[in-house]
Amino acid sequence: MKNSLRQKFTLSFVALLLFLTIFSGILTTGEVQRFYRQRIEQQLTTDLAAIEYLLQHTPKLQNLFSKDQYSYLTGFAESAGLRLTLIDSSGVVLFDSQVPFDSIRTVENHLYREEIQKALQLGHGSGERTSSTVDEPFFYSAKAISHPTVHVVRLAMPLVEMQQVLCGLRWKILLASSLLLLLFALISTFLAGRIATPILHLSRTAELVKKGDLQAHFAKETRDEIGELADILNEMLAKLRQDVIQLRRLEKMRSQFLGNVSHELRTPIFAVQGYLETLLNEHDLDGETQKKFIDKAHNQAVRLNNLFTDLIDISRIESGEMKMNYTAFNAVKWLKKQIDDLQVIADQHHIQLRFANSQGLKKVMVHGDQERLNQVLVNLVENAIKYNRPQGHVEVSSVLLPGEIEITVKDNGRGIPEEHLSRIFERFYRVDKERSRSLGGTGLGLAIVKHIIEAHGGKVEVQSRVGEGSLFRFRLKTAEISENRS
Ligand SMILES: Nc1ncnc2c1ncn2[C@@H]1O[C@H](COP(=O)(O)OP(=O)(O)O)[C@@H](O)[C@H]1O
Ligand SMILES: [Mg+2]
Repeated sequence: MKNSLRQKFTLSFVALLLFLTIFSGILTTGEVQRFYRQRIEQQLTTDLAAIEYLLQHTPKLQNLFSKDQYSYLTGFAESAGLRLTLIDSSGVVLFDSQVPFDSIRTVENHLYREEIQKALQLGHGSGERTSSTVDEPFFYSAKAISHPTVHVVRLAMPLVEMQQVLCGLRWKILLASSLLLLLFALISTFLAGRIATPILHLSRTAELVKKGDLQAHFAKETRDEIGELADILNEMLAKLRQDVIQLRRLEKMRSQFLGNVSHELRTPIFAVQGYLETLLNEHDLDGETQKKFIDKAHNQAVRLNNLFTDLIDISRIESGEMKMNYTAFNAVKWLKKQIDDLQVIADQHHIQLRFANSQGLKKVMVHGDQERLNQVLVNLVENAIKYNRPQGHVEVSSVLLPGEIEITVKDNGRGIPEEHLSRIFERFYRVDKERSRSLGGTGLGLAIVKHIIEAHGGKVEVQSRVGEGSLFRFRLKTAEISENRS
């Protein structure tokens, strides 16, 4: 099976050659035969004319042949290498150079021989057949003449020689073409090998790839289409390699995420279980302690709830299941309302929260999913409040740029150490785990923020300095150019 391509090539080459040889053999021998016949015919025509002349102009050949005349004619025919027959008007054979004088009367009537009939009707005729007199193939040519006794002169030429020549020719053609066939078979096997071998090598490499060897390389052995195929296969393989690397990375991320999720869930669940068990088993707890334990269990339940909400959000965003619901709305009005709503939380933490509208913007229409953007702002402002210092400040500001509005959330809190800055948008990444947990954080807030802003075609930037504060910034595209400045 491995050699089938090669065999196919060779076989079709050989078949083609065989066809050509047979075809040209038939053509050549046919042509030679035609040539021979033509020459014989020409020869006989001239000879007939000569004999006609001889018969008409030799006085002693004017009458019926005596034995003497008969042998004269026989001698003449033999010396000329001809078989001569003379026939009278009724088809009776008067003379035949191959029949002795005594037997001539026994020769059968020749009136209905093909060439005789033609000669009688048209003056000249020819034919080819095996002679019944001598049992050999002959070519006959006959001519009607004007002579007192002889009516038709006929010459016959044996075809044995021509057949021998043709036979020899056929053998020579056969021999030559057999040699050629052998040569061609060798050449085509070689050529087929040159085509089939690189293909065979490609398929062997493909076999390796199939078995999982992505480091395999398709050898480019020729600079033709097969070489091009090798290039394409190598490109495909390179892509496959990259895809596999990406898949493995995704797989790793997924399992890390799962590990993180179960870890995050375990802590609050165990805590709730612990508090409830204590409440159930310890009967001599005073009312105050009981209240404290219930409070703690409740806090953990809230944390669990937050965690679930964030987890559901992030998995819906990442799976592409969450569709953004875009509308046009006034970003300035929206910011004011959000900040009003967040004042309660700021107050709880004794933080001053304010909206800085330095350009005095009133109406800036933006396109976006308002509810998701609420989530962004709440997350950023809550972080600014939670990771702040006592009596700290949080300032939300908006600046109109060409075609965009830039929204900044700035605090003068603890700041984020440089080495954490690049990672805080990762899921579950927290600078201070305990502080985040104790404040009900899940470590998913900034990851959700990043996803939502990116879905709006923007990106979130962060700047921070330890001890001085942090700044988060993102931009939204404006829906129309509006009269904003008052
Ligand atoms: N304004 C900020 N100031 C200081 N640290 C911050 C601020 N915002 C975020 N961080 C840090 O980034 C981490 C990730 O934030 P986030 O994804 O919102 O999670 P969470 O708030 O639930 O911990 C926080 O745990 C915190 O360490
Ligand atoms: Mg947060």
